[in-house]
Amino acid sequence: MRNDKNIYKPLRAKLTDVIEESPLIKTFVLVPEEEFAFRTGQFIELSVDGIGEAPFTPSSSPQVTDKLEVTVMKTGYMTEYMHNLKPGAYMGIRGPYGRGYPVEKFYDKEVLILGGGCGFAPIRSLLYNLIAVSDKLRKVTLCYGSKTPEDCIYKPYISVLRKTPKFEVLRSVDKASGNWNERVGVVTILLDDVKVDIKNSIAVVCGPPIMMKFGTRKLLEMGYPEHDVYLSMEKNMSCGLGKCGHCMMGKYFVCKDGPVFTYDEIKDQPNIWD
Ligand SMILES: Cc1cc2nc3c(=O)[nH]c(=O)nc-3n(C[C@H](O)[C@H](O)[C@H](O)COP(=O)(O)OP(=O)(O)OC[C@H]3O[C@@H](n4cnc5c(N)ncnc54)[C@H](O)[C@@H]3O)c2cc1C
Ligand code: FES
Repeated sequence: MRNDKNIYKPLRAKLTDVIEESPLIKTFVLVPEEEFAFRTGQFIELSVDGIGEAPFTPSSSPQVTDKLEVTVMKTGYMTEYMHNLKPGAYMGIRGPYGRGYPVEKFYDKEVLILGGGCGFAPIRSLLYNLIAVSDKLRKVTLCYGSKTPEDCIYKPYISVLRKTPKFEVLRSVDKASGNWNERVGVVTILLDDVKVDIKNSIAVVCGPPIMMKFGTRKLLEMGYPEHDVYLSMEKNMSCGLGKCGHCMMGKYFVCKDGPVFTYDEIKDQPNIWD
């Protein structure tokens, strides 16, 4: 286990595989030079020498400490450079940082998860964790939306989930093509199809800000209490340590106090969906 005194010094990790998930999203499989443990929902700062550093949430199982997977959407300078990396390259990992999902609070409950786009990355890590404790859960329903069938990520993992007792997967795309035979429309329409015992349930939302906003609104309309809706917030981040102030959201440092918050914790803070 890592016991590094210098919190700014990245841990070296070798890129051993790159999995193409969709035209814009790839999963990077990293083997750190020392064991690396994290809690599902926590994030890391990932660096490439001479290029930069950016925050990502591991998409792999928190039970695995000798390998780490990070699923990255190509959006700009650093992520574009990463998408061109080949196995054998080295990267740096700082962290893990922040507060992840309080999985113990989900015991004896149904878990309803709403995910969109690359927001599936932290959710996949959460799902690995929930499968490991599934004897303590009532049911897990994943509602996942993407723009098109080609943009749907983790297709092999979806097949595994669909065969896992207590787990159900509903998917939607904004625009169908080919032989897509699941729902068409924004991801929140899937909430009309779920059968959930809200009194004994919690909800988790992760995805682009617009989806988080309308997803949360719909969950509240369905009757979820504000303290039972868990949101994984993304703000611009730099240090990851509560020092630089880049990630401020009202009174909170998202890097330190989050990134996972319940809606009632943050609802009165300014610009939460920006
Ligand atoms: C806690 C946290 C976890 C994240 N987890 C993931 C993940 O698992 N997978 C993933 O693909 N992305 C994740 N992101 C977003 C990721 O950090 C940004 O996409 C990345 O920093 C963009 O870097 P770039 O140099 O390629 O883009 P830039 O050239 O810096 O910018 C390109 C675009 O991305 C936006 N952007 C830049 N930095 C961020 C940021 N920190 N958050 C949101 N948007 C940003 C810019 O506003 C701009 O529109 C996460 C962000 C946070 C804060
Ligand atoms: S990223 Fe520096 S204070 Fe949060």
